[in-house]
Amino acid sequence: MQKIKVSGKTGECNLIIGESIKNFEKYCENKKLVIITDRNVRGFHEKSFPKGEIIEMGLRESSKTLETIQKIYNRMLELEVDKSWFLVGIGGGIVCDVAGFAASTYLRGLRFGFIPTTLLAQVDASIGGKNGVNFQGYKNIIGSIRQPELCISDFELLKTLPEKEMRNGLAEVVKYGAISSRSLFEFLEDDHEKVMNLDRNAVDNVVYESAKIKAEIVNKDEFDNGERMKLNFGHTLGHAIEKTIHLTHGEAISIGMTYAAKISVEMKMLKEEEAVRIEKLFKSIGLPTTLNLNDSLSEKLIEAVRKDKKRRSEEINMILLESIGSSKIVKIPIEELKRVL
Ligand SMILES: NC(=O)c1ccc[n+]([C@@H]2O[C@H](COP(=O)([O-])OP(=O)(O)OC[C@H]3O[C@@H](n4cnc5c(N)ncnc54)[C@H](O)[C@@H]3O)[C@@H](O)[C@H]2O)c1
Ligand SMILES: [Zn+2]
Repeated sequence: MQKIKVSGKTGECNLIIGESIKNFEKYCENKKLVIITDRNVRGFHEKSFPKGEIIEMGLRESSKTLETIQKIYNRMLELEVDKSWFLVGIGGGIVCDVAGFAASTYLRGLRFGFIPTTLLAQVDASIGGKNGVNFQGYKNIIGSIRQPELCISDFELLKTLPEKEMRNGLAEVVKYGAISSRSLFEFLEDDHEKVMNLDRNAVDNVVYESAKIKAEIVNKDEFDNGERMKLNFGHTLGHAIEKTIHLTHGEAISIGMTYAAKISVEMKMLKEEEAVRIEKLFKSIGLPTTLNLNDSLSEKLIEAVRKDKKRRSEEINMILLESIGSSKIVKIPIEELKRVL
């Protein structure tokens, strides 16, 4: 078991990696718990949940809405949840985002924590205090930044996760390696199969190393004005792809990161062989790296990039690589992205 601390202006969070969900009570003395989860996670793992009132939310991105938040508020009113309660989100990134937002806003803020149950949520979504929902087709546009107090990543929970979801999470781990840790990247080159096969040491290692990188970045830039933008490596194009051709998040950002690496080579920042290594790693994990592009798809993607940025500016911030393990925020004209596509 290993611990990492996130220290933000909006709170301090203890990340506990390699601990069992069954020991939750050791870290949270609060007896009154409200648990937000989804049907899948509840079905597989309810018997390990701490004791508490369970509120089940819908599956899929389409449940990340203000309506879901309202339902949670209503149920909490019925349960007479007050400031003495503690809210815990047990699930993937969707549950964490919704639970965190409900906790941050109900009574102007309940104490809360997470038990992330997907690899993606353990390495990414549960860390850093960004909570929120989608609105009018804009992803994560309504939300708050507030750190959970506690986040327990339990290896055992991943044993029921479909392979596709493991791959999804691994895409984010490759991201951490590419932007800031050559050693993590090289670990994946050698041992990604061990992670996919749920080798405990390999999984705990990638969760710990990823969480450490994210925590460090959040500690420097909780409000996303600089350094934290690096976590968007591959995501500008990735989000556009996710929307336009309905790939999973992990698949979309793998393509996004491969293109971003290629743009880095074009801008003479990154050696070509390093971009090739990145593409090769995604391929060996079983993640896609290219799109079948035609003019109309490129147009749609550029439109989606503009929409994702929530404005019609002609320049975007892109995260580019200087080498594997080192990244930089660069403003590039949307025309340049268009050209590469
Ligand atoms: N707040 C942040 O900083 C942040 C960062 C990254 C991603 N996100 C958000 O996270 C969301 C994606 O999260 P995700 O990839 O975890 O998807 P998800 O929450 O939809 O989970 C994927 C699927 O796996 C199921 N599942 C979860 N745990 C399981 C388990 N242990 N066993 C079996 N099935 C299980 C879920 O029910 C779901 O069907 C997106 O909405 C994204 O915007 C947020
Ligand atoms: Zn992501």
